Amino acid sequence: MSAADEGITAEDLVREFRNGPRAVDGISLAVEPGEIYGFLGPNGAGKSTTVHILTTLLPPTSGKATVGGFDVVDQGPAVRGVIGAALQEAALDPHLTAREHMRLQTALQGLPHAERVSRGDELIERVGLEEAADRKVGGYSGGMKRRLDLALALVHWPRVLFLDEPTTGLDPQSRSALWEEVERLSGEEGVTVFLTTQYLEEADHLANRVGIIDAGRIVAEGTPAELKSEIGRPSVVVAPSDPGRLEDTAAVLERFGKSLPAEKGTVEVRLDRGVDELGAIVRELDAAGIGLASLVLNEPTLDDVFLAKTGHHLEGEALPGEDDSGDDE
Ligand SMILES: Nc1ncnc2c1ncn2[C@@H]1O[C@H](COP(=O)(O)OP(=O)(O)O)[C@@H](O)[C@H]1O
Ligand SMILES: [Mg+2]
Repeated sequence: MSAADEGITAEDLVREFRNGPRAVDGISLAVEPGEIYGFLGPNGAGKSTTVHILTTLLPPTSGKATVGGFDVVDQGPAVRGVIGAALQEAALDPHLTAREHMRLQTALQGLPHAERVSRGDELIERVGLEEAADRKVGGYSGGMKRRLDLALALVHWPRVLFLDEPTTGLDPQSRSALWEEVERLSGEEGVTVFLTTQYLEEADHLANRVGIIDAGRIVAEGTPAELKSEIGRPSVVVAPSDPGRLEDTAAVLERFGKSLPAEKGTVEVRLDRGVDELGAIVRELDAAGIGLASLVLNEPTLDDVFLAKTGHHLEGEALPGEDDSGDDE
């Protein structure tokens, strides 16, 4: 299976808005089946517009894209049959309960009568909403609504799942619960996931591959590790427990890389061959009888990558909880 038959492909996608910007300005990408692809970028970068094109909600001005092997322009209904989507402007009805939403969605997706209730209940349980299932959605927290969005998107066993900023504004606990579910879907069920985010940590933790988007263009793409290693190799900072052994510590560490200016009582080296050497470093320090007060690995972050590629930091990297969507439960 390749991106062309079970995943997502895009070739030079462009979307212009009348009186607006070129929101999507030549995006090409390929997402392999079962992969979690993280589309990372600031507000206004063109993430949602790309998702809208790929989910057939918006035609591209030019370019071509396929999802699950179907063309998003010529084969819209077929695309819609294989995808699930939880979009930013979720259409939840505050007067309905979660169970009622599931009932509607299973009917809309054409599930046989006999399966509707069980499928709804199964998904409600999967996203941890059993307790609240018969309460009106109007009283739900932001995190609960996102979980219901996800359950609704999964009703018809989609092969490809689109999640547009699924954790924006969520508290850390709801965020990691959602991450776990996304990992399970990809890992155990082979679902292809296209996820947009403004959170470096989310892209880093969850995505197999990340495309960094800024002003409608992909400015960098790769696994989080590849992207970070493009920027530079990590360094390691060691403080020996006996300050008298600082020079011995430096002698050991310099076998692994070049010394950097370090804080008093510590030695820092840029690792020639990266993190893989950490084990050897620890063993050699131990063999030299050097006890450790601390050992810290300083890795470049995706924000360093973003800065290097765009000249600015990733704005909108708000801390969880700063959003107004409220606490979870
Ligand atoms: N319907 C529209 N009409 C005009 N401009 C739009 C429309 N939708 C989005 N835009 C503009 O396109 C750019 C990309 O928007 P969007 O795809 O929503 O970004 P993101 O999801 O990354 O925040 C923004 O400058 C936005 O203002
Ligand atoms: Mg958006």
